Amino acid sequence: MKYVIGIDLGTSGTKTVLFDQTGKVIASQTIEYPLYQPQNGWAEQEPDDWVNAGIQTIAGVMAQSGVDAADVAAIGLSGQMHGLVMLDENGDVLRKSIIWCDQRTGEECREITEIVGAERLIEITANPALTGFTLSKLLWVRKHEPELYARCRHILLPKDYLRYRLTGTFATDVSDASGMQMLDIPGRRWSEELLKTLDIDPFLLGTVLESCECSGYVTEAAAALTGLKAGTPVAAGAGDNAAAAVGVGVVRDGKAFTTIGTSGVVFAHTDKISIDPKGRVHTFCCAVPGAWHLMGVTQAAGLSLRWLRDTVCTPEVQQAAEEGVDPYEIMTAEAAKSPIGANRLLYLPYLMGERTPHLDPDCRGVFFGLSAMHERGDLIRSVMEGVSYSLTDCVRILQDLGVDFKEMIACGGGGTSTLWRSMLAGCFDLPVRTAVSKEGPALGAAILAAVCAGLYPDVPTACDAMVAYNAPMQPADQAAYAAAYERYIALYPALKQQYADLAAL
Ligand code: XUL
Repeated sequence: MKYVIGIDLGTSGTKTVLFDQTGKVIASQTIEYPLYQPQNGWAEQEPDDWVNAGIQTIAGVMAQSGVDAADVAAIGLSGQMHGLVMLDENGDVLRKSIIWCDQRTGEECREITEIVGAERLIEITANPALTGFTLSKLLWVRKHEPELYARCRHILLPKDYLRYRLTGTFATDVSDASGMQMLDIPGRRWSEELLKTLDIDPFLLGTVLESCECSGYVTEAAAALTGLKAGTPVAAGAGDNAAAAVGVGVVRDGKAFTTIGTSGVVFAHTDKISIDPKGRVHTFCCAVPGAWHLMGVTQAAGLSLRWLRDTVCTPEVQQAAEEGVDPYEIMTAEAAKSPIGANRLLYLPYLMGERTPHLDPDCRGVFFGLSAMHERGDLIRSVMEGVSYSLTDCVRILQDLGVDFKEMIACGGGGTSTLWRSMLAGCFDLPVRTAVSKEGPALGAAILAAVCAGLYPDVPTACDAMVAYNAPMQPADQAAYAAAYERYIALYPALKQQYADLAAL
């Protein structure tokens, strides 16, 4: 039996899972790390926290499993997209990473659009200039920290920094590179035109590979730290959503999934490139060579519920500690007592601005209709519903663009909640099912590693062998959800100008 390791470098922590070649979990470990928010709308993390977590969790799963390192056929990496890691000529980190949910770069986005031209930018990068993407972060550093920019020799994405520390190579994969906004997405290579227009040295960027290609081999030094065998291949891997797609088998036309992690995503595979001219959903290269995906993003999905847990749900957290259960279990049980519509309470999940459909870094969260009669259960329900309505925005746009899917696979922490899945099924008016494995991106990264190691001939064949599904949940209460959704979508237009005014304070 051969084994593969999938690493998912997330925003709250890094999870490493050792699978056998059939997709069975042999050992798993997660290490968490902090998120720094030095100003309203800013978000940073320490790249060495990621690397320490990566190295320790690999060492952890190797020790727990007792698997012979020579039987680990390959490693695959997946991770939070868009984060900017800057290294100097010695490969040392120059500053904390500005990560995907940071919203400081509105001005840089306007400049990119003006210099490159809105239409040409979408033709090349398949997306409008977005605050979340790496390019605007890089231009922010060039403008605000010029001495530091002058010392920068390498720009990497979060998982690609871990790759560098494991293999010594500077590389990325097409799916994650898609979110840097420097890739020619139809051509699946760096855009010389865009780099030249914006005066960015192409040597800053690593080699861009298809997701199942080999990016390098574990070095002697990394082997000593992790318990891996020096020379173990490391697959290029994928951004977290493209990797999750592989992990739930969304690798062919007609397949889609939604994830509720820190952010929320609705993702549909497409063999033929399709671009939203209004830029409300992203088009990225996917982890299947020669294919793409369309993806809508809710910035603060699970993050909204975590925020509520940490700021409001102290009694639930206490009760959970006493009973030795997850606080979300108690919170969801309370939410289930509140009716659809949460007793006329609506929540807009814009804690970190919003991407789909508004592309607005300045909007912020709202509880609308709050009354003295509301209890914490109503607040929890309205947060879960608000996130579901925001994901419904994504589904509707994909459907408007003619992307066809007949069911939805739910994953991420939120996807494990039966209540949240029932909201999604009712809002989307689609059957919703889960994959048997809960490992999403880590399994996807491991599947890419299995293909890289030659255990399977291609990604879809590997998914057929390594991914299984539970029975679907059928949609119910569609009319009630549709009515609440109509009230929800009326709120943003009414507040748009107020958000801008608030941000200008
Ligand atoms: C995708 C995105 C998030 C991050 C963090 O565009 O920004 O899904 O990858 O998970």
